[in-house]
Amino acid sequence: MNSTAFTFMIITVTTIILVTGYFFIRVLFSKSTTQNANGQTWTRIGLVLAMAGNAVGFGNFLRFPVQAIQNGGGAFIIPYLVCFLLMGIPLLFVEWSIGRHGGKYNNHSTPFMLANLDKRSIWKYVGVFGLFSNIGIAAYYCYMESWTLAYVFHSAIGTFRGLSQSEVGNVFSNYIDMNTTTLIPYEAIVFYVLCLALNIYILSKGIKGIEKVSKIAMPLLILFGLFLAIKAVTLKVGQPGVITDGTTGLNFLWTPQYDSIWSPKVWLAAAGQIFFTLSVGMGSIQCYASFVHSNDDIALNSMSAGWMNEFVEVVLGAALIIPISVGYLGIDKVRELAELGGLAIGFKILPYLLNQWAPLIATIAGIMWFSLLFFAGITSSLAMGKPCVSFMEDEFKWSEKKSALGFGILILILGLPTVFFFNYGVFDQYDYWTGTVSLFIFSLLEIILFSWVFGIRNGWEELNRGGDITIPRVYKYILKYITPVLLIMVFLGALINPADNNWAAAFQSLFSGNGWTFDNGSIIKMITNASLKEKLALATDDETRDFLKRSIFLINGAKILLLSVFAGIALLVYIASQRRKKEDREC
Ligand code: ALA
Repeated sequence: MNSTAFTFMIITVTTIILVTGYFFIRVLFSKSTTQNANGQTWTRIGLVLAMAGNAVGFGNFLRFPVQAIQNGGGAFIIPYLVCFLLMGIPLLFVEWSIGRHGGKYNNHSTPFMLANLDKRSIWKYVGVFGLFSNIGIAAYYCYMESWTLAYVFHSAIGTFRGLSQSEVGNVFSNYIDMNTTTLIPYEAIVFYVLCLALNIYILSKGIKGIEKVSKIAMPLLILFGLFLAIKAVTLKVGQPGVITDGTTGLNFLWTPQYDSIWSPKVWLAAAGQIFFTLSVGMGSIQCYASFVHSNDDIALNSMSAGWMNEFVEVVLGAALIIPISVGYLGIDKVRELAELGGLAIGFKILPYLLNQWAPLIATIAGIMWFSLLFFAGITSSLAMGKPCVSFMEDEFKWSEKKSALGFGILILILGLPTVFFFNYGVFDQYDYWTGTVSLFIFSLLEIILFSWVFGIRNGWEELNRGGDITIPRVYKYILKYITPVLLIMVFLGALINPADNNWAAAFQSLFSGNGWTFDNGSIIKMITNASLKEKLALATDDETRDFLKRSIFLINGAKILLLSVFAGIALLVYIASQRRKKEDREC
């Protein structure tokens, strides 16, 4: 590794390890349980691991490395770290505070938690985002989770042994296409239903169930991650098939490029990654925090869970996919593959590369890689389910079992289009609208509510009450001014992202009277499916035209479905609030 990259990596990684370790050790030696107004109890360690599990997910192992590669390696890491400090941490503070405050009033989902901060009824409907994102994301996330389960099975039985890279890729394509050549007929559906059943079962056990799973999954995930990371970074030229040392990938990631500070595209990607990886703007942190007693610490707990996520992402997540794939394929090939996304590398390429190792190690490594992804996935999907379960329990007095089953059925119905029409881009649409746009909007609105409407004085008091650490006072100003301004910039950036991400050219075009040229990835253009329409206009053969037409039809259908989900939740919130008013009148 070159010395700049090495120094930058050592400083960042050591800082993250020390800070994470410090917070975690303080949690271990602090008051050990926390019981909310409802009498439901988290153990302290269970709460921190469940919150960390909520954050640690596919984002850490698949999305982060690919974002880093797509955005120039070392060019990405500085904006990413700044976004963590100026947007991620403040939003963690806001969401933990909103959650614990809502729990005091026996509210465990965002619509009525936000109403606890300000009486105007608009906030209840802003809170709909905190259920909508969870449902929308869970619908495709649980599907991915089921792939990991299937791939643990395939790694164990040696499906990938002796196959070429394209044959390993075909295993995944056949699986996704529900091609009958897979071992089990309709394997994708079988594993999807199995995975949902597992989620339903754990959710029906409530906080205790989630805690138990987190206490097993998180330590195992870290253990497996460490094993694979050590194997990855110690790859050496001369081992069969290795063309560059494992450290070459690290070099690429950790060579800082200061000019990226001026690239809005890189900042947008970094901010998007921070939202997704920390699970902020989803409504799940608020739900878990609502089971914390109103005088118990949230300052230390939030930092412990948040930094643990950074440890898993920046230390482990960065040391798996990138060093292994760069080691075997070289940086240019990996850059090319990154355009296909993290899923392609994780499921089509990695099983092949791991099978270059000695047979026993290859089998163990495959099982570890996909189990690690499964643990990361399930601890996140449980956190997506819990707010929905709590909403039905709180507002419609459903039992935990019935609510968990209801959630599972809803996810099955909503998830099926992503299963059947994956190749038409339906999966990506769910990810874009619920896993990106919705998170930006909700984060922005909730910080305005917390810092400006509820007021930073009240907010700061709420955040620090019972705190086991003192939060630096500078965060009071960051919460009030810097994070909201950054969030507005990020949202506007995503909304009107200019063609080729070239802001200078877009402003030039605007000022010379030629209007703003939007990028096809901007929110505005995504609404109108501009990219597909362009491809359709250029397509020359009937087969491609038919495929694109069908894609546009299905994608529009997906958008309508997601909008209906949002409207449906808003209707439930309306009914619930009428019921509450009626109950208040009767009291
Ligand atoms: N935070 C979760 C992840 O990174 C959603 O996958």
